[in-house]
Amino acid sequence: MRIAIIGAGNMGGAIARGLAKSQLVAAGEICVADPSAETLKRLNEEHPEIETTDDNCRAIEGADIVLLAVKPWLAEQVLGGLGLKQEQLLISIVAGVDFAHLGQILGRDDQPICRMIPNTAIRLGESTTLIACNPQAAAHQADIVKLFSSMGRVFCLTEKQMGAATAMTSCGIAYALKYIQAAMQAGIELGIYPKDGMQMVAQSVKGAAALILEGDTHPAIEIDKVCTPGGITIKGVNELEHNGFASALIKAIKSSC
Ligand SMILES: NC(=O)c1ccc[n+]([C@@H]2O[C@H](COP(=O)([O-])OP(=O)(O)OC[C@H]3O[C@@H](n4cnc5c(N)ncnc54)[C@H](OP(=O)(O)O)[C@@H]3O)[C@@H](O)[C@H]2O)c1
Repeated sequence: MRIAIIGAGNMGGAIARGLAKSQLVAAGEICVADPSAETLKRLNEEHPEIETTDDNCRAIEGADIVLLAVKPWLAEQVLGGLGLKQEQLLISIVAGVDFAHLGQILGRDDQPICRMIPNTAIRLGESTTLIACNPQAAAHQADIVKLFSSMGRVFCLTEKQMGAATAMTSCGIAYALKYIQAAMQAGIELGIYPKDGMQMVAQSVKGAAALILEGDTHPAIEIDKVCTPGGITIKGVNELEHNGFASALIKAIKSSC
């Protein structure tokens, strides 16, 4: 299976590295296109077998999968100029560009297309990756899930659900980081050095996530376990409620949607 990746930035570069490491695709079967020689050089220093080029059309020659990883405002120009063949599976990670728009750019509606939204933790193999396949790509879904499960967890959705789930997971990583940053600020005021606080809070967040991901539980059950009647945790939890923590998060996710 040959894979072409168009755009080797944060996402495209991480995906190329992740695929090469996964060994589900031979690194020599991956071709990455990007205008920046420096970006491609850095990639090749880590993975010399990955083919690199500044020519997008050359990159997609003979590719079974073409993964589009350029900024949204370049999607039309770059995808329109690729000359994709009908049998090539297009995976677009471009946020906010739907199947209808991709079909419009390609000038046909029979292209197998998978829309995919990873998050920045893909760099560490810890992505939350959302995918939606159009009917023509449905037969490829299982293979795509297998490939990208090597870089985190994959969730298959309908296109209609992509916006909400993107806000929760791709934008959501920024909200989780804001929590870490705010907790660090509190710690500093209370005399904890930022670098120590950062590690402590991040490990606590990792622990909270592990309780949910690895246990048969629910946030309410785990919160209840920490809240001793008359104790210090319930005071803080209620303070969050009084200050609209849940409401602020709900509003944030809805506004990112
Ligand atoms: N970042 C996220 O959290 C995230 C999450 C999910 C989805 N996405 C989507 O992923 C896409 C890429 O985001 P990113 O954060 O990886 O952006 P990025 O770091 O800017 O990467 C885009 C890459 O495309 C290159 N490029 C520019 N023009 C090109 C062309 N004509 N042909 C081929 N490559 C070209 C850029 O090179 P230069 O830098 O030299 O211009 C850059 O290396 C976006 O559409 C975004 O919506 C991002």
